[in-house]
Amino acid sequence: MEIYVDSANIDEIRKAKEYGVCDGVTTNPSLIKKAVAGMKGEGKQIDMEGYIRLICEAAGKGNPVSLEVVSLKAEDMVKEAELLYGKFNQVASNVVIKIPVSTSRSEGEEHYEGLKAITALSRKKIPVNATLIMTPEQALLAGKAGAKYVSPFAGRIDDFIRKNLGEAFGKSDYFPAGGKHKDGKTAEDKGIVSGVELVKKTKAIFDKYGIKSKIIAASLRNARQVREVAEIGADIATVPFEVLEDMIKHPKTFEGIVKFSEDVVPEYKEIFSAGESASR
Ligand code: E4P
Repeated sequence: MEIYVDSANIDEIRKAKEYGVCDGVTTNPSLIKKAVAGMKGEGKQIDMEGYIRLICEAAGKGNPVSLEVVSLKAEDMVKEAELLYGKFNQVASNVVIKIPVSTSRSEGEEHYEGLKAITALSRKKIPVNATLIMTPEQALLAGKAGAKYVSPFAGRIDDFIRKNLGEAFGKSDYFPAGGKHKDGKTAEDKGIVSGVELVKKTKAIFDKYGIKSKIIAASLRNARQVREVAEIGADIATVPFEVLEDMIKHPKTFEGIVKFSEDVVPEYKEIFSAGESASR
């Protein structure tokens, strides 16, 4: 499974590259807002275009960087996508355009602008990451429209189900893949009992029909959720930096390091100091 860094913070992206675990980057307007607020907080000037170039460079040649459009109409999204692709793909040949699967904000609005944009861009060979996917059927539509990637939002589905259960929860709290129950009934959203199940059902449908779009398990909030989407066979997990940190930590690893460090005998340590003086 590939790992993308779900961040617009250049330092986080660079660190993940240095760790050797960053196969790509996903951004969205909220992540860019957070990064800009951080820079302003440090009194830094922001040259947005230059900053996005740095993100593309940091991700590395061919490692996809998702950049999202901001308009809600298909025609405008296509123009924005062409502009983003034209400006930034030349940096490291890695730009993917994020298009919401639907841009309607309520029942009464036009629901197919996202799909129309995905279709138009795919015909123009501009790679699309269909975002804000909350059901397997939305993923199916995005796949049929030609999206290169689809991003089911696991964490937000867990949030939705927990909210409907009337539960209080923290953003990174684990929610069981098998769902929860209330009043003898399984809590669900349109028959989906958890965010991980959303990814699982999407994968099952894509496998069944040979849909080529890659699945990016998105909106992941903790390490256990990353493990569960890996077990399912998601192509990619996009993870915030905090989740990357959650994936490496374990109290028994801490304890093991303390013990190994304590147990180093001088004769063994000598090898390294002898090596050091030889290389001088
Ligand atoms: C990634 O492409 C998404 O924008 C991101 O994972 C959303 O995560 P959130 O639900 O934690 O904001």
